[in-house]
Amino acid sequence: MVKQLPEKIAKGSRFVVAVDGPAGAGKGAICRAVATKFGFSYLDTGSIYRGVALLALQNDVTDDEQLGKLAGNMPFEFRFVAGEGFRAFLAGKDVSINLREEQVGKKASLVAAVPQVRSALLTFQRRYGGEKNIILDGRDTGTVVWPDADLKVFLTASLEERAKRRSLELQGKGETVSFHKIRDMMAERDARDESRAHAPLASAKDAHHVDTTLLTLEESIDCVVKLVDKLVGNKPR
Ligand code: C5P
Repeated sequence: MVKQLPEKIAKGSRFVVAVDGPAGAGKGAICRAVATKFGFSYLDTGSIYRGVALLALQNDVTDDEQLGKLAGNMPFEFRFVAGEGFRAFLAGKDVSINLREEQVGKKASLVAAVPQVRSALLTFQRRYGGEKNIILDGRDTGTVVWPDADLKVFLTASLEERAKRRSLELQGKGETVSFHKIRDMMAERDARDESRAHAPLASAKDAHHVDTTLLTLEESIDCVVKLVDKLVGNKPR
């Protein structure tokens, strides 16, 4: 039995910036830079789905109801660690590195299709940051989590470019990677994220589209910074 989504939590007077797009489009790096520049809190919503996936893998949980319970009771938090930036903690343990493993990403996209998991994580996302201005990134932050966000951005880049970036990132961490394998896994994950029945990866109608295929990271950051600048400048509080 699919649970009803929790009641919408008011946005209040804070600015909410919602950034969506497929894996490897640059969401994380861009949002962290914007959060730091404007003093916003930052929520990488993919990490919470990865957190559920990691717990599910560790505890061999596959049943939808049980996955929903794992998500609802997940002792997950982001902490800002001096010199290291935002780190993800599960039950007090820094799991930032574990969460980035390709297997965990693959499992995350499977558990993210489970309505019980999405429902449990919705409240977490809406409460996150309290009264602080926030930028969050994911797949459905502008369509489902914050349909009334002050600014919505949909980031894209070609599959080849995104796979190249992810390969370089993993190589930088000393991992041996196959570009083709990464590209195929990404394509598979995109297809699953776009085709699932609940909160699929999609652009909100009122989102600003930014294609980062031909942009450097700095240029991509600049693009989003300009949009936020306009927003903050136009609505003094
Ligand atoms: O962004 P990241 O690759 O860390 O996300 C991992 C997976 O979590 C995605 O493939 C997607 O299936 C899921 N996800 C989601 N909704 C979000 C964020 C992530 O379904 N808002």
